[in-house]
Amino acid sequence: MNYVRLHVNVDHVATVRQARGESYPDPVWAAAVCELAGADGITVHLREDRRHIVDRDVRILRETVRTVLNLEMAATDEMVEIACNLKPDLCTLVPEKREERTTEGGLAVEGETLEKSIKKLSDAGIAVSLFVDPEVPVVRASAGMGADIVELHTGDYCNARGGERAKELNRLAVAAEEAMGNDLRVAAGHGLDYPNVKEVAAIPGIEELNIGHAIIARALFSGMDRAVRDMIDTIRDGVFCA
Ligand code: PXP
Repeated sequence: MNYVRLHVNVDHVATVRQARGESYPDPVWAAAVCELAGADGITVHLREDRRHIVDRDVRILRETVRTVLNLEMAATDEMVEIACNLKPDLCTLVPEKREERTTEGGLAVEGETLEKSIKKLSDAGIAVSLFVDPEVPVVRASAGMGADIVELHTGDYCNARGGERAKELNRLAVAAEEAMGNDLRVAAGHGLDYPNVKEVAAIPGIEELNIGHAIIARALFSGMDRAVRDMIDTIRDGVFCA
């Protein structure tokens, strides 16, 4: 039986390191502890401005990660070249704006540049995921562009209150169903936390969750091992996917 997989995003560990210009805390150490605690994969976002994860991190992680290395990046020539040389297991293409604090919206799934980037990554043997808003036309366009996976943006669900939350959950479920119907694998992420993750993990078709902030924030108080195990327990509490 399969279960919903957890990929831990360790960018925030690098953020603390960069804040002091030191060599620690090291996201490579964090990744190892996450894997020992049962994480199914490690996610890092190599941003164009290198504000947290830097090239050295992804190089070492490629050698040390024993599960799955998911490299998040913008679909630029520079990043595609780095990925094709590095060969992460999976590349998640995200929109990137310099001023933003974190990835804000889903990718605009259009244009020759994006299609070429997907093709180059696929030709290099890398699975390609597109981080998209949970909208049927965007999911269909992702399949048309040759993506293998869509990561559904859960930000609106996480921010929704009251009755809006059920609507957002339904939006995610409809998008996940559309993705499966188009032979896409389905992941989800952004803003997921211990109290709100279970409903998303229970959506049919969702195989994988990318979670960063909530886990690293909890790790400050309970340690990384505990924080990862607690998230895994929360996600997998009776939730399986086919
Ligand atoms: N998925 C994608 C594509 C992201 O860009 C991010 C944020 O880096 C995440 C998931 C994780 O979001 P959070 O840190 O809110 O868990």
